[in-house]
Amino acid sequence: MTIPAELLQRLAAAKSVTVLTGAGVSAESGVPTFRDAQTGLWAKFSPEELATPRAFRRNPRLVWEWYEWRRKLVAEARPNPAHLALAEMEKFFPRFHLITQNVDGLHQRAGSRRVIELHGNIMRTKCFDEGTLVSSWEDTGDVPPKCPACGGWLRPDVVWFEEPMPEAEMEQAATASATCDVFFSIGTSTVVYPAAALPSEALRSGAALVEINPQPTPFTAQAHFALAGAAGVVLPELMMALNALRRSRRVTTFDGPRP
Ligand code: OAD
Repeated sequence: MTIPAELLQRLAAAKSVTVLTGAGVSAESGVPTFRDAQTGLWAKFSPEELATPRAFRRNPRLVWEWYEWRRKLVAEARPNPAHLALAEMEKFFPRFHLITQNVDGLHQRAGSRRVIELHGNIMRTKCFDEGTLVSSWEDTGDVPPKCPACGGWLRPDVVWFEEPMPEAEMEQAATASATCDVFFSIGTSTVVYPAAALPSEALRSGAALVEINPQPTPFTAQAHFALAGAAGVVLPELMMALNALRRSRRVTTFDGPRP
């Protein structure tokens, strides 16, 4: 795929870049997305039965075991070229924020440092009653295991439907979306709010919206640049083009006025 020259110019002038990622960025690591037909998690399972507090109260063993299955799958997954390209992109701009809806921790394993996890992290565990993080517990054979402090159930430290978003992370994400020169929306169907409101926030503040997704989304028509391709293909190409531009301009970090 050819990266549009105008996009490269915008990036060369950008002081601040914000990226929002969804499950599509981890698809090439073998981690299922949620809404892709046939292969998506919600095509095979029901979010109401697995990803809500009510579902957990109704059948804690089922929910715990489903997350254990996902945790194992994520632990065996490796960051793919999309994650690695985003870790490299972080070093290009004076201000860079990576907001992710993903709970797999693959951005951090790829080397990204400034990651805002909107939906938590499946590798962390917390007490269902107290909300405190729990790093170790006695294996009593209970499923789910019990909180060592209060005896309540343990659960994954992820945001379920009908649960509030983490306030600090949402605050950071909203600010990063409202103050950037270029906003990338990568590998997300942008249908789950409030994360799906972030591209609108960026557009309202005058940022250039870049979408990377093999399928159209509700934001494709509003994107300044809609790159219809896999993140693991497009992002490395984008970084190659940015590196070539930097070499040609002998620019160490991009600088210049807000477009
Ligand atoms: P979805 O499964 O809704 O959307 C995945 C998007 O990635 C789709 O638009 C695909 O077209 C696209 N895609 C697939 N393969 C890709 C690739 N190789 N490169 C780029 N894009 C690709 O996942 P999310 O948008 O992340 O929340 O879903 C948002 C939230 O809904 C999740 O965080 C989760 C889910 O329910 C909760 O469970 C609370």
